[in-house]
Amino acid sequence: MTDANYKLTDEARRISVDLPAVRGTVGPAALDIGKLYRETGCFTFDPGFMSTASCRSAITYIDGDAGVLMYRGYPIEQLSANSNFLEVAYLLLNGELPTAAEFSEFEHEVTHHTMMHESMRFFLRGFHHDAHPMAMLCAAIASLSAFYHDKIDINDPAHRKLAAIRLIAKMPTIAAACYRYSIGWPMRYPRNNLDYCTRFLHMMFEVPSEPLDLSPVASKALDLLFILHADHEQNASTSTVRLVGSTGANPYASVAAGIAALWGPAHGGANEAVLKMLAEIGDVKSVGKAVERAKDKNSGFRLMGFGHRVYKNFDPRAKIIRTMCYRVLDELGVSDPLLDVAMKLEEAALKDDYFIERKLYPNVDFYSGIIYKALKIPTEMFTVMFAIARTAGWISHWIEQQETPDTKIGRPRQVYTGAIERDYRPIEVR
Ligand code: CMC
Repeated sequence: MTDANYKLTDEARRISVDLPAVRGTVGPAALDIGKLYRETGCFTFDPGFMSTASCRSAITYIDGDAGVLMYRGYPIEQLSANSNFLEVAYLLLNGELPTAAEFSEFEHEVTHHTMMHESMRFFLRGFHHDAHPMAMLCAAIASLSAFYHDKIDINDPAHRKLAAIRLIAKMPTIAAACYRYSIGWPMRYPRNNLDYCTRFLHMMFEVPSEPLDLSPVASKALDLLFILHADHEQNASTSTVRLVGSTGANPYASVAAGIAALWGPAHGGANEAVLKMLAEIGDVKSVGKAVERAKDKNSGFRLMGFGHRVYKNFDPRAKIIRTMCYRVLDELGVSDPLLDVAMKLEEAALKDDYFIERKLYPNVDFYSGIIYKALKIPTEMFTVMFAIARTAGWISHWIEQQETPDTKIGRPRQVYTGAIERDYRPIEVR
């Protein structure tokens, strides 16, 4: 369709190639460069995948310039206003919204797989008490392939479905167990008479000695956060799940790799980093200084929770979550100096030319951290919360990949910059 002209630096010659276009249902076409190396002897160079589509996918669509996010064609605004996390998980996995009967069956299945194997308690006890819950979660999810090794035939649709149910069902149980272990509380079994989010909050906060007084806004806010975090097409962690999945690795190993990728502060770790940054700023009076530091490239400091690779106008999730953030603070009557710092920082950055010119807006993680703090979820659990929600997306992508007939092992090329061939010299003459 298009011809691409480019120079080879060593020969300064121009090469023209015809590249077929790959089109989706909406969004930019992609140039299929699969045969480029064979035809021209050149690779493409795109660190960070700035212009590279790695797969076809029918799950999630983002238009970063227009601030659009859709799961299976449904705008995130509609899903967050009308749906719930489990229904969204069903949608991501199956491509369609469930009927009442389908939803009830799915909910039943998830609810009845929430228990973790009793041996998992002993596995978790192997960790030092102050282990980061993301480290524990990553290891615990990888270990599921040892607990359920008889049902991980990636070519069996029933095994794939069971793995999806098990992951979505057990992730909150394991996450809460990791947290409770880290603070020395007894682990709680899931109470299946509760909905997904309320059950999780009970496993986090209920103590054997007294009933838990839980505000309904807490479950509502958590459900919304889970919907907003459920999928985000080919982000770093989902791409990691797919890269690992492309080798034929089992779903638990693939998702554990996604959890590791999510942990970094440039990705899911940003929500934890936001709170650490706010604590470091400490006071509304220091917000100006922090903004100046973020603009200074030599400082090595960025405003956590600002900017996004894809969204260059606004993050539609941040818009939705901001409203919920104010509702939660209001309904729970939370007053916290760090939240004042956050609001001042948001205001200062939004009117600063540096941030305006670079289209840096608060992203979903800026507000999610504030809500989690208001819900008394400890900072080191923030990224774990993200992982619980994103599990629905990760496993949907993993299944889509396994069901795609032409899936190839992911194997990028490189531009080698090391030493050219040289002869080995014995140690005594070096
Ligand atoms: N604070 C200060 N400057 C920034 C920031 C920031 N948070 N983000 C980007 N910039 C600057 C950057 O220095 C660069 O400036 P210049 O053009 O002068 O060199 C310009 O903006 C473009 O930045 P980039 O690093 O090329 O953009 P990217 O698309 O590679 O990175 C990002 C996107 C999200 C990694 C980055 O904005 C960032 O590090 N943000 C802070 C971490 C964060 O909040 N991450 C959560 C992302 S949303 C949830 C998720 O996907 O997990």
